[in-house]
Amino acid sequence: MAAGFLLPEAPLQTLADWLALGGGDGLKAARRLGAESTIDEIRASGLRGRGGGGFPTGAKWAGVASAPGTHHYVVANAAEGEPGTFKDRRLMRHNPFQLIEGVAIAAFAVGATEAFIGLKASFSPEIDGLTRALADMTAAGLAGDTPITLVPGPEEYLLGEEKALLEVIEGKDPLPRLLPPYLHGLFSTAPQLGWIPSPLEPGHPEPHESNPTLVNNAETLSNVPWILARGPEWFRTMGTPSSPGTIVATVCGDVAYPVVTEVEMGTHLSALLHGPAGGPLPDRTWKAIFSGVANSVIDPSRFDMPMTYEDFAACGTGLGAAGFIVYDDSACMVNVARVFSQFLAVESCGQCPPCKLGSGEITDRLERIESGQGTDDDVAQIGRWLGTVTDGARCYLATEEQVVVSSVLRRHPEEFAEHLENGRCPRPREIIVPKIVDLEDGRVTYDESQARKRPDWTYAPA
Ligand SMILES: Cc1cc2nc3c(=O)[nH]c(=O)nc-3n(C[C@H](O)[C@H](O)[C@H](O)COP(=O)(O)O)c2cc1C
Ligand code: SF4
Repeated sequence: MAAGFLLPEAPLQTLADWLALGGGDGLKAARRLGAESTIDEIRASGLRGRGGGGFPTGAKWAGVASAPGTHHYVVANAAEGEPGTFKDRRLMRHNPFQLIEGVAIAAFAVGATEAFIGLKASFSPEIDGLTRALADMTAAGLAGDTPITLVPGPEEYLLGEEKALLEVIEGKDPLPRLLPPYLHGLFSTAPQLGWIPSPLEPGHPEPHESNPTLVNNAETLSNVPWILARGPEWFRTMGTPSSPGTIVATVCGDVAYPVVTEVEMGTHLSALLHGPAGGPLPDRTWKAIFSGVANSVIDPSRFDMPMTYEDFAACGTGLGAAGFIVYDDSACMVNVARVFSQFLAVESCGQCPPCKLGSGEITDRLERIESGQGTDDDVAQIGRWLGTVTDGARCYLATEEQVVVSSVLRRHPEEFAEHLENGRCPRPREIIVPKIVDLEDGRVTYDESQARKRPDWTYAPA
């Protein structure tokens, strides 16, 4: 059932392998069309951002290109921090060339002076592959006219939040800034808070600049050369009118064969789960699926829905980055909610007190309930904190806490009641947050150090 063009079965070894697949044709087409028509092609293709939000890519490019400012920038978001996802790393390992060509085309389209690919310093194979591909493409004149720089960043979840990623590219910590990248871009000197501007960037004349910056996910940009080379109509032969193309999905958790695979948009979730992911473990039935830790829990009655942005939204959840975390009947949903909440509480940066305090409080109370020590008051207090955790939030992490925890409370109230009434967990089992370090041949490795990470981003000794 695997289908598509983005993910070759075996990694491409050389630039010649990419050229044999039509590499370079996308950039050539963009140059022939000109910047404006290149954006029109992306808009006509209906491509939507694969970083989690599904925002229309053409509209984003047009917005950045037309935003006032002397300098524009492009950033490829290859930080891949969402639990349950490994698709950007698989794409970069198997074909780093298409991402670089996508960045070059985006930079051409929005008139960028510089472009960056931001990823974690721990992604060694991806950094090596991209570095080699970039050198070979630059030498062959296939990396465009805009300098492209790789930026290795820290391990934090917030590295992938676009406003935090810009901070890291500027050499700072991954703390989301206030305004979105198209309003307050890289190396911007315009005031962001109050009236005090940053010092002028060397070489930049007055007035203070906002430097509109385009941030796109690595998979989004990997689609770009193909669309330019083959045309938007070709792209629309796959998927649905509102979600064209393919999507590179990850499945992990309680499945026979954890997997990363490219499927056509609109493929039914159950086909992915029973096909490439091999179905449930022996004698088990599935009871809950999450797309990352950013969307509401999906019930068994919905496992058959098509993988599109519109179908997931209609069911009150989100497709996210199509990183599916599957739990079967042996899992405790209170435990799952606590583990997800703890991840978000630890990763919250604390710039917005209701987010850091609220997610921490919710985690503590979930832990009490999970251990059998909880009371009705803990449930009531969780409800209260869920109502305020997003107050004044600079980024979407706080909403993730609200959405995920409240969905588990709503969908699995009986499991909370069991813990309160029996004073113990009826399904004791170790559950860790599925932050994927590697996934190959049906074997997935999770980052076990995450369990030792403290809310101040230090680690308890092993
Ligand atoms: C806490 C948090 C973490 C995120 N992590 C990632 C990430 O690792 N990779 C990514 O592409 N987008 C991530 N995003 C979404 C980005 O902020 C941004 O929306 C995305 O890169 C835009 O690209 P797209 O339009 O191509 O989807 C994250 C968002 C939040 C709130
Ligand atoms: S919402 Fe949370 S994670 Fe996002 S900036 Fe505020 S405190 Fe940090």
